[in-house]
Amino acid sequence: MTTVDIAHRATSGQDPEHGGPDPQEVRQRILELTTSVYAFSALISALELGILDELSAAESAAEIGRRTGAPEELVVALLDVALSLGLVRRTVAGFACTTGAAALVGGKAKEILQGDLRSTHLQSANLIDCAGRRDIPLRGWQYSDPDLLEAQGARSTEAVGALSRMVFPQLEGLEARLTATGGTILDVGTGVARKAIEMCRQFPNVHVVAIDPLPQALALARRNVAASSLEDRIELRSQRLEDLADHQRFDLVWIPVMFLDLDVAARGLARAIEALRPGGWAVLESIATEGEGLQEAVLRLVALLYGSPGLFPERAAALLRTAGYEDIIVLPAVPGVAPRVTVGRRPVGA
Ligand SMILES: C[S@@+](CC[C@H](N)C(=O)[O-])C[C@H]1O[C@@H](n2cnc3c(N)ncnc32)[C@H](O)[C@@H]1O
Repeated sequence: MTTVDIAHRATSGQDPEHGGPDPQEVRQRILELTTSVYAFSALISALELGILDELSAAESAAEIGRRTGAPEELVVALLDVALSLGLVRRTVAGFACTTGAAALVGGKAKEILQGDLRSTHLQSANLIDCAGRRDIPLRGWQYSDPDLLEAQGARSTEAVGALSRMVFPQLEGLEARLTATGGTILDVGTGVARKAIEMCRQFPNVHVVAIDPLPQALALARRNVAASSLEDRIELRSQRLEDLADHQRFDLVWIPVMFLDLDVAARGLARAIEALRPGGWAVLESIATEGEGLQEAVLRLVALLYGSPGLFPERAAALLRTAGYEDIIVLPAVPGVAPRVTVGRRPVGA
């Protein structure tokens, strides 16, 4: 049973007279959620142990255990879960990854997936810890745990490839600007700078100004930029978007508005349009989603915890309009990807 099934039942299985399921049904739904939590942990464990990487070619559990150092019984149990999720299949030799999973469990894709899962795990565990201490700060995304910061950074690199392939070609003049000498990007909320580094790899002529107010993140960012030998192409600044003072410097400003509250986003977009060159583009990522299902409800909760409650894509578009951007488009949702992208352009003649 997937969370989508659970959500469907949660909305469709309601008793109109008494307004909900009976206690036994509630218990059953909670058991299903518990199952999902352990399945999630099993997937992370299998990735961390390197068990799934071993399955590009069919292998026995005993051989995988020998290569990864994991006890064979644990390998079997984790693969049993992966099997029921459709990530692996049984073969004569033992197990092999299914085609869809194989594309995600090796190389760079694996690093992104691991970062995604680990970051989600640590953030959701933090929500529980805070609730236990009666301390739900709702001060936005303010983590200092280096593991979480790095996991979030690894997850964020996925957007660079996806947007470069699917979105940038739709934005008039942008690719030409980013491939030309002098092309400059503003990376807002750079965190540990993994996205900025990925942008430099994707566009070998580009320079990036990467801003973030969080000292712990910037310390890791400095280390990552140095390790990538990109100090001459990435300028790291301890700065908030709403304090930006650049004038006509950037061809692209990339703003994950999902980490900003509405007032900050509005003030920040006004600064950003001033900082864009005429005809340059703003790319916004937001996370709040309308809808009755469990997934939509969880995304609204995440938006609240990130600091951007109620920031639906149409709201992001309205903020862009108010700040004077044009050619505003809310891009369609991409299956399997939570953030929604909204773009707007500084008028060419402005
Ligand atoms: C989830 S993190 C981004 C992760 C990042 N893309 C990476 O590669 O690691 C969101 C970041 O936005 C930053 N942030 C929050 N408010 C901000 C603001 N007003 N201006 C700029 N950055 C801000 C936070 O400090 C945090 O590091």
